[in-house]
Amino acid sequence: MAAERFDGVALVTGGSRGIGLAIAQRLAADGARVCITARRADALAEALATLPAGRAIAVAGRAEDKAHRLEVLDRVADAFGRVDALVNVVGMNPVFGPVVDVDVEVARKIFEVNVITPLAWVQDVLADERLGFASHGGSVVNLSSVTGRTPSPGIGLYGISKAAVAHLTKTLAVELAPEIRVNAVSPAVVRTVFSRALYDGKEQEVESAYPLGRLGEPEDVAGAVAFLVSRDAAWITGEVLTVDGGLMAAGGVA
Ligand SMILES: NC(=O)c1ccc[n+]([C@@H]2O[C@H](COP(=O)([O-])OP(=O)(O)OC[C@H]3O[C@@H](n4cnc5c(N)ncnc54)[C@H](OP(=O)(O)O)[C@@H]3O)[C@@H](O)[C@H]2O)c1
Repeated sequence: MAAERFDGVALVTGGSRGIGLAIAQRLAADGARVCITARRADALAEALATLPAGRAIAVAGRAEDKAHRLEVLDRVADAFGRVDALVNVVGMNPVFGPVVDVDVEVARKIFEVNVITPLAWVQDVLADERLGFASHGGSVVNLSSVTGRTPSPGIGLYGISKAAVAHLTKTLAVELAPEIRVNAVSPAVVRTVFSRALYDGKEQEVESAYPLGRLGEPEDVAGAVAFLVSRDAAWITGEVLTVDGGLMAAGGVA
């Protein structure tokens, strides 16, 4: 039997570059219509130009702002009339150093953007009756991280937030079943602007810890997300899918 590719409507937050853009491109290539978001309108417009005309829209704004989320949902309702997949990609990691030294206001901000904001997107999409998210059998994919499983030196607070994303995913999966499936992907280091500091200048050394011999590419994560939102994953919910080139199996640390 052929793979059942996702061809519904996907809302991908943080879609102007990196993992989010690769997800939007992959889903569009599979036949989906997509909406991408990001803060910088110019980069977002460039990203939109890489997606199929007439099957993609972009809305600039901050994922954590309610007014932005409602504007996005208005635009998606007008353009596509539904949402079948919500992919919460936006995440931040503004500090490097021991958790005990982190300014608590910065810690609050990290939790707001990485944990509360994905929850808020789920709540807002669910509340919008125009989008039929529950009645169409929608699904959510969140971005966790292997740092949420094994503490990574210097990015501990980020890891704590990503552990919370994994638990949020499982909790929502139980609460929203059977109408809505909720899963997450948990990557190790994927080559993007966001993670550059983790491998810049020491790429071979970092790659040598990965059994598959290389860092991740955004497309590696996009493939896993494309599977999780597709009918092929119809009996999968509450799963946090590790996408790490074997790093965790080898006892490594991202
Ligand atoms: N790269 C990795 O190694 C890795 C590993 C595990 C998990 N992850 C997770 O994967 C996700 C994406 O990472 P990435 O590496 O692709 O990051 P990235 O290259 O920095 O891309 C982040 C995207 O999100 C947008 N964005 C950031 N903050 C936003 C906000 N507050 N509101 C709206 N849009 C926002 C960015 O555009 P603007 O800056 O214009 O807003 C951009 O489109 C994150 O949740 C990250 O924690 C990444």
